[in-house]
Amino acid sequence: MSKGLSAVPAAGPVAEGLEGVVAAHTVLSDVDGQAGRLTIRGYAVEDLAQRASFEDVAHLLLDGFFDGMPSDLAPALGAARVRAFAEVAALDEGLARRDPVEAVRALIARLPDGDGLDTALLLIAAPAVFTPAVLRVAAGQSPVAPDAALSHAADMLRMTRGVPATDGEARALDAYLVTVCDHGLNASTFAARVVASTRAGLTSAVLAGISALKGPLHGGAPGPVIEMLDVIGAPDNAQAWILAALARGDRLMGFGHRIYRVRDPRADALKAAIRQLAQTSSTVPGRLAFAEAVEQAAVRILRDHKPDRPLDTNVEFYTAVLLEALGLPPAAFTCVFAMGRTAGWIAHAREQLATGKLVRPQSVYVGPRTKAAA
Ligand code: ACO
Repeated sequence: MSKGLSAVPAAGPVAEGLEGVVAAHTVLSDVDGQAGRLTIRGYAVEDLAQRASFEDVAHLLLDGFFDGMPSDLAPALGAARVRAFAEVAALDEGLARRDPVEAVRALIARLPDGDGLDTALLLIAAPAVFTPAVLRVAAGQSPVAPDAALSHAADMLRMTRGVPATDGEARALDAYLVTVCDHGLNASTFAARVVASTRAGLTSAVLAGISALKGPLHGGAPGPVIEMLDVIGAPDNAQAWILAALARGDRLMGFGHRIYRVRDPRADALKAAIRQLAQTSSTVPGRLAFAEAVEQAAVRILRDHKPDRPLDTNVEFYTAVLLEALGLPPAAFTCVFAMGRTAGWIAHAREQLATGKLVRPQSVYVGPRTKAAA
């Protein structure tokens, strides 16, 4: 264990942001920040993104953490989407017009807490059902009911648009969900594990996860990536815009990472999915080429800006390009991230629960010791 948590001195250094602290053993995923590798239960994320469905990878993550796991998760997850849709009745226009993450979180908060597989599947289904409903009700349209026979990705796109997605689009969303389903002890997963450790239940753990994910330093970054691309507008403007943003003290969204000291491997997994989508689109190839030009300029400038701190592309940059290519609105990108990551939060919550240990670190008091009461 590194600095900070095991034996806190009466005064002395603390690991701000828990940087470098090891707080769990996990069988779920390994983030190798030096080599730029993400392994999910033994498989390289790039391989999973190319070959496996979200249902397969959710099964892989949950395997061993629940009694009665079916061998094929797809029908059970389809049935859970239908169950989740019952909650959409509680969605009114006022709620739907809020930030989509807040609206989806409010609907998830209506689900009962529990620790079993039924609760887990309902929670994994929830963002896929609630996000389309929120977007449609906000636009004055009626929610579309789930089709349990479709894949999770295809059904989410159909419920959003009201018409079926192409196989290529469903496959691209599937690759995205697989790519983001788990990632070591990131902020939202840690939040979910903390809440799970109190034995509050899986719904509470997922609510903690989605609340942490919402912030722009974590899963809230891809919306601002689109704003950045739109403001830059053309490759020739990239350098001047980026230099001005850094001079103002802004952070470039979609760059930098706590663990990776090289390029985030998920960026390439997503780029491969965008390239596939580009083969059947007239607009995606141009947008991808533009994004690549901005990325190259940003990486070059960030190298000079912080020579001692590698700030390479993270998952959020190409998340933005991919989800935009699928016609999803930037305001909903974090909800789509949650659609994939909920599987990871739940597996981690169960893993934490199995340790039987409450997460309860210490702090070093640096306030006054003796103050006379008035
Ligand atoms: N642009 C410009 N400067 C940056 C960036 C960036 N994207 N990221 C870090 N820095 C700078 C910081 O300003 C800081 O500079 P300082 O030492 O002069 O104060 C230095 O690099 C170190 O930054 P920290 O915040 O200490 O590093 P940390 O490991 O905590 O940051 C983080 C990781 C939060 C992801 C950061 O790189 C960032 O804010 N990136 C932009 C937001 C983003 O893309 N978020 C998505 C992350 S991926 C995910 O969570 C799914």
